[in-house]
Order: sequence, then C-alpha cells, then structure tokens
Amino acid sequence: MVHPSFRGQGIFTRLLDFGLEHFTGLDLFFNFANPASAAGFAKRGWRFLAPLEDRVCQLGYDSIPSRASLLWIWSLIVRPTRSPYPSRRIAADELATRLSEDIRFSAPITSPGRAAVIRDKAYLRWRYLNHPFNTYDYYICEPTPDSFSLAICRSRACAGRIEVIDAIGFGVPPRLADWLEPWAAADPTATVVTWHTLPSQVRAGFFGNPLRRGQGRPFLVRDFPGRPLPFSPWDLANWYLTRGDLEIT
Ligand SMILES: CC(C)(COP(=O)(O)OP(=O)(O)OC[C@H]1O[C@@H](n2cnc3c(N)ncnc32)[C@H](O)[C@@H]1OP(=O)(O)O)[C@@H](O)C(=O)NCCC(=O)NCCS
Repeated sequence: MVHPSFRGQGIFTRLLDFGLEHFTGLDLFFNFANPASAAGFAKRGWRFLAPLEDRVCQLGYDSIPSRASLLWIWSLIVRPTRSPYPSRRIAADELATRLSEDIRFSAPITSPGRAAVIRDKAYLRWRYLNHPFNTYDYYICEPTPDSFSLAICRSRACAGRIEVIDAIGFGVPPRLADWLEPWAAADPTATVVTWHTLPSQVRAGFFGNPLRRGQGRPFLVRDFPGRPLPFSPWDLANWYLTRGDLEIT
C-alpha cells in the first residue's frame, strides 16, 4: 500500500525492487494483482497465469424468477448425493482444541505435482485462529471418530454470499458438499463461492457461473532465475490454491 499522496512516483516499484533484493532464499512469489498494481508487478518479472475463477453452489432463493432461483435449480441438478456424515458449525475454542490434538493430514493437500501451502497445525492456528484482521466461521465434518475435515468460511450476509476461504482434511479428504446443510442453516438463500483452483473432487457440485466465465482475480507468479523448481509454476493446474492462501484481509 502506497499512501495516495505519494502514488505514481515509482514507490511501489522500488518496494518490489527492495523485496527482490532482500527476500533471499525464496523460490517463488505468488499473489494476485488488481488494475492498479498489475503493471508494476509485470515490469518486475511477475507473469500473469490465469484468472482465479469462482465456482458456486446456490443454497436457496427468495424470489422467482431470479438469478438465485436459476442457480439453485442448476445446483440441485449437479449437486452430489446428500452427505452421509454429520457436519456442523463450531466455535473458535473448539477449533483450537481440535488443532491441538495429534492429527494426521490427508492426501488432497499434497496432490502430487501441485504446489500447495503446507497446512500444519501452527500455520492453521496462525492463519485462521490468531489472525488480527479477520474473524472466520468454522465448520467441521466428522466422517469417523479419528478423522475430520474443516471448512473455513467468511459470511457476507449483506451480499448473500458464503466464501470458502479454505478446506482441509485430517485423515479424510475435504468435500465442500459435506457442509451444505450447516451453510443452509446459517444463510438459507446464500451463494457459496470457492475458487476453481481447489481440486474438482473437493468442490464436486460447484459450477462456474456462466455469466462470469474467464473472469476473476488475476493470479501472478514470479520465479527466481537459477532456483530450479520441482514443478512448472506457469500452469495454474499445478497449484492447490484457496482464498486463504492469497487473501490477507
Ligand atoms: C497499487 C499501488 C501500490 C501502486 O503504487 P505506486 O507507487 O503508485 O506505483 P508506481 O508509481 O511504482 O507505478 C508502477 C507502475 O504501475 C502503474 N500504475 C500505478 N498506479 C496505477 C493505477 N492506479 N492504474 C494503472 N496503472 C497504475 C504505473 O503507471 C507504473 O507503470 P509505468 O512505470 O509503466 O508507468 C498503489 O496504487 C496503492 O497502494 N493502491 C492501493 C492498495 C493496492 O491496491 N495495493 C495492491 C494490492 S495487489
């Protein structure tokens, strides 16, 4: 962030130069840009990969005909079978307890060949419990006594949206469809939104909004010449990305 009175003077560019010079030992920068910052990033070697597209599931509607009622009909058609597993909303202190238990991580996070933020307990506590800016809604699904999955969400009730910030499995792969019931209890007519960079098995039943194909936040990557990578960072399909990995606020 550059103070409005000092914009257009190359300060952002110099900040990027400072980062490139001093953040040694990094393999990659990855972030998204907005119309104001895209040019600055591009000038300093960031490459634009593709937009981070939304995938949605409509929980209900409050009037017909409406956009929500159309999305709801399609959601019914593509929705996976009703989840057989109990799922519910939990409070932060229960999440803190679950994250202090001796837990195992599940396969999807480490999809072979996909770059992903490592979600160890310390990271999850820092990112979703002790975060200074944000309060999240937490949802749990418990298929078996020793496995569970978590959805970290942000409710934008005024916009009729529930944003999936992250989905993590402990001993079981996360599946967004497992939380449709507690989400509908929280906001019966909401649109649940996630990014298409979640593996398809995690976001089964979520579909691209036909009116917004190809639209979304631009995803940018910068590599560091001379630092070989175990995967090609230039293909978005090689990334396991959630909103939580990119959105700080
Ligand atoms: C984005 C931001 C950091 C740019 O800071 P800045 O110091 O004005 O940027 P610079 O002067 O270094 O400009 C870098 C390049 O971006 C371009 N640019 C800057 N502001 C721009 C704008 N609002 N729209 C389009 N291009 C812009 C400049 O023209 C320059 O390109 P050029 O060298 O080819 O002329 C500043 O506008 C800001 O703080 N915005 C609010 C917070 C924000 O959006 N941060 C980015 C989050 S990803």
